[in-house]
Amino acid sequence: MDDGSTHRSKRIGRVRCPDVVQVEMRSRPGAPMRILSGGTFCSGQNMESFWRFIFRRSLPSTALRQMDFAVLGLGDSSYAKFNFVAKKLHRRLLQLGGSALLPVCLGDDQHELGPDAAIDPWLQDLWEKVLGPHPVPLNLGLNPPGVPWPSKFTLQFLKDTPTSGPEELCVAGTDPQGPPSELQPFLAPMVSNQRVTGPSHFQDVRLIEFDISGSGMSFAAGDVVLIQPENTASHVQQFCQALGLDPEQHFTLQPREPGVTCPAQLPQPCSMRRLVSQYLDIASVPRRSFFELLACLSPHELEREKLREFSSAQGQEELCEYCTRPRRTALEVLCDFPHTAAAIPPDYLLDLLPLIRPRAFSIASSLRAHPSRLQILVAVVQYRTRLREPRRGLCSSWLASLDPVQGPVRVPLWVRSGGLTFPKTPGVPVIMVGPGTGVAPFRAAIQERVAQGETGNVLFFGCRRRDQDFYWEAEWEQLQARGCLTLVTAFSREQEQQAYVQHRLRALGPLVWELLDGRGARFYLAGNARHMPADVCDTLLSIFREEGGLSAPDATAYLAQLQRTRRFQTETWA
Ligand code: 2AM
Repeated sequence: MDDGSTHRSKRIGRVRCPDVVQVEMRSRPGAPMRILSGGTFCSGQNMESFWRFIFRRSLPSTALRQMDFAVLGLGDSSYAKFNFVAKKLHRRLLQLGGSALLPVCLGDDQHELGPDAAIDPWLQDLWEKVLGPHPVPLNLGLNPPGVPWPSKFTLQFLKDTPTSGPEELCVAGTDPQGPPSELQPFLAPMVSNQRVTGPSHFQDVRLIEFDISGSGMSFAAGDVVLIQPENTASHVQQFCQALGLDPEQHFTLQPREPGVTCPAQLPQPCSMRRLVSQYLDIASVPRRSFFELLACLSPHELEREKLREFSSAQGQEELCEYCTRPRRTALEVLCDFPHTAAAIPPDYLLDLLPLIRPRAFSIASSLRAHPSRLQILVAVVQYRTRLREPRRGLCSSWLASLDPVQGPVRVPLWVRSGGLTFPKTPGVPVIMVGPGTGVAPFRAAIQERVAQGETGNVLFFGCRRRDQDFYWEAEWEQLQARGCLTLVTAFSREQEQQAYVQHRLRALGPLVWELLDGRGARFYLAGNARHMPADVCDTLLSIFREEGGLSAPDATAYLAQLQRTRRFQTETWA
């Protein structure tokens, strides 16, 4: 079970994916996970129906009397609902008469050693519980340690390079089969890519505009756009060099076993350059399974020994020190183990490396204000660790590197409904709190609402300095002058004393209470998940107590009620 948080990275300006849930099983410790059943909430397929089914009231409390189960949760404890799905499922399976082999495992992305810190001992216990009463005969396809399991796919190189074909087929345009999606993204022309932070601001934040005419896409305020990024050309070249691959060579891919399917997005035949630049996530920080497989594939004694150490339970602190803490990438690891890298059979590429995931960004514009256009606000992620090279966010750095002034640029994207929805009934006021890039979805909402003639728009915006990172200042001022917006700002670095959005919120407590309690306003919060959301909630509670005269428990219940009825909505990321 994954609470969605493992799909985040340290990218600022990105929205978090909704919960993702999978039921997975390993055929033996270290072997690749097999999905027995599952799916995702976001694509809403089989997990949704599983969830609905398992929570049916009509299920008797003996429904799972015969079933042993164990639930493994993947989450991030910086989220209020840490591993909520796994905990809830565990409780429900017990309620239905199932018997838990083990307590629910709460993998935590915040742990220095990653979720493995909880998963390793849990899996060990699980195997003892399962294999004790049901020993698996050794000839059941389990490999002895150190021997690689068969690759999921076979990769067949073509003798000739196709002159045209699927490489070129995936081009922009409307698809008669429906709106653009992950399988068929729209290749949107980038219209502009403009830095919107001042020269002395620590962060490069871009306002990027795409032309979506002819795409068949439409979206509302609160929706998100998914962007499929690419690896940089130099990383692709380094990778091909390290593995001795010819970027121009074409191949076809076939699953080795029934039940395994080729990634549907991957064209066939495909060039190695395309596979590496668009599909293989060589710039992510690899997990332990990467080292396990490398150790199995390594022909070099010294390298193999080190890789085995990194894959062992005892080597996890060292692996963390080498890889996780400094955020070393898969490509950098491969360059550190050159003999191993050179010996990786291409069949194993898709076992070794995850596919590049699309990144979600809040849409910052409304079609009513900018017809046929889609805008996003992207904070370019760059930070240092003890490694010489600065760490860069794959998608934000890639987007920032694209310059439509130099020549046409197209970006694969599609839209999806997001976590925020705005009132459909006229006359409902909205209070929006969006410091930093958190303001992006609120710009879309304000544009949409102003176009509909809605005037009850209150925006709390916070940034460091008016002249450095005050996004859309002129636009807000114009709307204020027209009486369409009440803007409240907090500039945190313009005076000695800290000034954050929640301080402004508190100062306007009577207005906030009146809007919420007297006029049925909705409250929205978007931005960085570190401390801001909790701080804003605390401030709201104090407003409910002091302005509304509620007791502490009543204030908490009031907030919970707002959440339940979707009058309080958040979109946060880390
Ligand atoms: P700071 O960087 O000066 O600390 C957008 O990032 C704005 O949010 C910045 O002005 C930032 O201030 C501010 N900010 C940082 N932490 C916050 C918190 N816990 N609550 C509200 N705003 C915060």
